[in-house]
Formats: sequence, structure tokens, C-alpha cells
Amino acid sequence: MRQIHVLNGPNLNLLGRREPSIYGAATLADIESELSALAKKAGVALTFSQTNLEGELVAQIQNAGLAGADVILNAGAYTHTSVAIRDAIKGSGARVIEVHISNVHAREEFRHHSYISAVAAGIIVGFGIAGYKLAFQALLDLNPGA
Ligand code: DQA
Repeated sequence: MRQIHVLNGPNLNLLGRREPSIYGAATLADIESELSALAKKAGVALTFSQTNLEGELVAQIQNAGLAGADVILNAGAYTHTSVAIRDAIKGSGARVIEVHISNVHAREEFRHHSYISAVAAGIIVGFGIAGYKLAFQALLDLNPGA
């Protein structure tokens, strides 16, 4: 069975109460239940997680890549700072769709650069939480393990 891991980085546990004018009112649990329903329909094994720890994200990406699983990754602020996450993607061969809820390019300058984009299969930015569903659909449309 095809495996997709949805990995969320720092502060995304606060979705729903965190800067709602930027990130909206939905919680991470709302996103998880939407994606789980889609995965069930598509016959995909989906895992969904969140961590505030950079090394934890590195380990999860490595595990996914080495197991041949695909990843939907919202690395939060680590997007803009983490060479380690970039190296985990490159080093493990994980196929990653990078997602951002907000349009990072319309925000502060420090959010305009991503260490992940150059090693991602694709990037979905600024569509709110619908970005996760778009990323899921994009992965389905790509060949498994290609
Ligand atoms: C974010 C954008 C990042 O700049 C920010 O640090 C986040 C959330 C987004 O989903 O829009 O934590 O990744």
C-alpha cells in the first residue's frame, strides 16, 4: 500500500488559535481528519504528525525517504533556517511536496527563502489549509515511488 506521511513543524500545533487572520480558524486535527478521509478513499496509508523539534523532523523525513514513502511537509519556520532538513530530504531521497498555508512571498522578507524548495518535488503556497489536499492530490497524480 502506498504510504504518505504528513509532517508538520513548529507551532503548527497552535493552528486555530495562532494568528487566525493569517492561518485561519481550522485546527491541525481538522486537517488530519480531512486528509484521512481522502486517503481512505484513495487506498493510501496516511500518517499525520507534528513536532516542534528540528531533529525529530529530520528523523521522520529520513525514515520516510528510506522506506520509499512520500511526504507532505509543512516545516513551519524551519523552512527558512534548516540546512539539516534540506539535507535529510536530499540524503534519504524522500519525495516531498512543500506546503505553506500562508503566502510566504507576500509576508516578511525572511520568509521568502526556503531551504526546502530546491529539493522538493513541488511547492504549494498560499491556499490556506486546502494546500494539504492539493499536495495529496499532486502526489496521487505522480507515479508511486517515481
Ligand atoms: C508556514 C509559514 C512559515 O513562514 C511560518 O514560520 C509557519 C507556517 C505556513 O504554513 O504558512 O510556521 O509554514
